[in-house]
Parts: sequence; structure tokens; C-alpha cells
Amino acid sequence: MSENLDIFLNRIADAAEQGTLVKMTLSKPALKHDELRNIYVKPVLIKEKRLFAFTYHYERRDEVKNYDAAQMLSILKELVPDHFLNAVLFTVDEDITLLVSSKGKATLQTKKVQECREQSLEHDKQKTRLINPANPWWYQLGLTTREGKITADMQHKFKQIYKYAEIVESLVKPMKFDGTVHIADMGAGKGYLTFALHELLTQRLNLDVDIKGVEIRPDLVMKINEIIKADNLNGLEFVESSIEAYHPEKLDVLIALHACNTATDDAIASGIKAGADLIVCAPCCHKQIRQEMERSGKVDAITRYGIFLERQAVMITDTIRALILEYFGYKTQVMEFIEMEHTPKNVLLVGRKTSKEPKKAEILQQIADLKRQYGIETHYLETALGLIPWKRNIFSSK
Ligand SMILES: C[S@@+](CC[C@H](N)C(=O)[O-])C[C@H]1O[C@@H](n2cnc3c(N)ncnc32)[C@H](O)[C@@H]1O
Repeated sequence: MSENLDIFLNRIADAAEQGTLVKMTLSKPALKHDELRNIYVKPVLIKEKRLFAFTYHYERRDEVKNYDAAQMLSILKELVPDHFLNAVLFTVDEDITLLVSSKGKATLQTKKVQECREQSLEHDKQKTRLINPANPWWYQLGLTTREGKITADMQHKFKQIYKYAEIVESLVKPMKFDGTVHIADMGAGKGYLTFALHELLTQRLNLDVDIKGVEIRPDLVMKINEIIKADNLNGLEFVESSIEAYHPEKLDVLIALHACNTATDDAIASGIKAGADLIVCAPCCHKQIRQEMERSGKVDAITRYGIFLERQAVMITDTIRALILEYFGYKTQVMEFIEMEHTPKNVLLVGRKTSKEPKKAEILQQIADLKRQYGIETHYLETALGLIPWKRNIFSSK
């Protein structure tokens, strides 16, 4: 038995070294009730390094880990035959199968392949789904059944999560990170989007992350941290704090989705101060500017209609936020987050740090013009960043 196993492992080592290993599968768990059903291995090229991606197929989730050749061999020694009784090595010109019987007898079968095979080093990202509802946290967060089916009343929420993951992937993929990616999700709430972010970045984009979900409600923080612990999710943690009081030293990406009123401004300010490369926020209610507009008594042909005053306040609030981001050197984009039928809070404000010198005087003039036109004394973000002093405390929650 050990002789055949040694031969098999040597063939793997040779194929890995010669670049002829196409793929490998480990199946037939030795323990009937093992949650880990099988493993699929394929060579990948990551940052110019030839590695081997192990996709661990558990009963209700997949996990991908990358190893170099030496690590791969020592892991395989642990897995076969103790965890898996069948292993197949596919090389460019033959298939080698190791079969271990229930009595521990190992046999080797070799089959020459007729077709022309090549080793593909394409990265395996596309294989993993953007978000996999079968992952246990989606059930624990209340979005799916135990079997990983999205519940009827969470279909809309899941669409939003999926859309969010698509947008974040398109924003993060072109970025270059030096080691761990530090992320704060401010006003993380029940954690749906924070878990989606973690799943996307670790399982699909293979990034090493340190994600902090900042949330003011202690009960939520405790509950979410229990889920994180149960699922052994590295690089994800919820922190009980107000957004205003949370000042991370190192921050690459700042996320703030639907943080109420000026909490979005505090989050943006924190991202700018920490020099985040990417700032993504979906503003929520826009009370501060609307109250200033109402108080000023200035009405024009548009804002004399209540509903338009509301919409105008939203646009002015977010336009000034976008301008302030530009002032601090961010290239700013405003995009639709999700179709209106799912939520009226459907704008995503995205700022990407650039090295281009901003036209500061011009930007400040545009902000001043807007404020003058609508009778606004101060935009809260200006004060949060110390651009102008906070003149008046006009709303009770601050
Ligand atoms: C509307 S929920 C959004 C949750 C999540 N980001 C999402 O989009 O699904 C806003 C969350 O922010 C939290 N929150 C509001 N103001 C906050 C503040 N100043 N500091 C920290 N958390 C805050 C609330 O407790 C709530 O859980």
C-alpha cells in the first residue's frame, strides 16, 4: 500500500516540477459523514508564482486555498488515504488513479490519454461564484434555508447583495494591494453586505483582508461576531463603535452603505483622513441639508414642491460630497446601486484616489455657489474635515 502511495506522490511531485500537472481530484471520503466531500486541485499563476489551488468542496460551501508544490505534497500525504480513498492525477499525457480499498489496499492504474492536453495556468477565480448562498453564514444571517436556498422574503435583499458584489468586484479588481487589504464597513448593520464583501474578496479574489464592520448596536455586534467565530472567518470582525469615534490608522477601502444622515459624512471624512484608496458609500437620508434649505426660506420653482425639495436636497447633499472628495484628490463617480423597485436609496458614490492635483479653488467655488443658491450655510462634511468651522447645531441628534 505505502509503495503505491509513494509512487503516486512521486508522480505528482514530478508533474508539478515539470509543469505537466493538469489537475487532480481527491474523492470518496474515508469517513462516511465527513463534511468535506471532495477536493479539486489545479495549477494557477498568482503574482508570477506557480501555485496549486485546492478547492475544498464541503457539503454546503466551497473554500479555495493556494499552496506551493512542497506544501501541496505534504497536505496530500495527510489527506490520502486518511481522508480520501480515491485520488486521480491528470497530467498532459496520462491519468494516474490511486484507489484505496476499505481494507487499506492501494492500487494504481495508469491510462495514456489520446487527446492533446495542456497545462492551464489561468487563475481559477471564475470558477467560484460571486456569492454562494450555500455558505453557512447566509443561513445564520437569516437569508437562506438550512439547505442554502434563498427564502422568498429575502430574494430582494439577495439581489441587492449580488449587485453590490458585482460593483465592488469591478472596483477592487484593478487595484493593486501590498499585502493585507484593510477595509472598514461603517454602519454595517446586520452584516449582509459585510459578509458579501468578505466572501467576494477572500474566496473569489483570493485577497488577504482585514475587514472591520463598525456598528453602534452592541447586540448586533455580539451576534455577528458569534457567526464569524462559528464559521472561522479570518480577517472579519465587528467592532462596537460609533462611526464618529472610529478612526482606523490604516485603511485601503472605506465602505458606508445606508449610514443615516451625517453618519455618511463622518464615514467619508474618516476615509479621507486615513488616505483610503477607495471610498464607496450609498447615502441614506439627507436631513441635514434639507433642514438648512427649509430654514433658509429660499424657494425656487423646483423646491417649492415638497417632494422636489426632498429630491433636490438629496442631489445637493451628494453633489457636495462628490465635490469634497474631488477636492481631496479623489476621482468621483455617482452610479446607480440597484433598481428603484428594491430600494429608493439607490445611489452609490464612489471615490478613487488619484495622484492628479485637484483644482481646489474651482471646486471650492462650485461648492460655495451651490450653497448660496439654496441658502445652505454649512454642509456637515465640510466641518467634519475641518474645511470650515461648524457654525450652528441645527439638528438635535448631533
Ligand atoms: C440602514 S442600516 C445599513 C446596514 C448596512 N450597511 C446595509 O446597507 O445593509 C444602518 C446601520 O448603521 C448603524 N448606524 C447608524 N448610525 C451609526 C453611527 N453613527 N455609528 C455606527 N453605526 C451607526 C445602525 O445601527 C444600522 O445598523
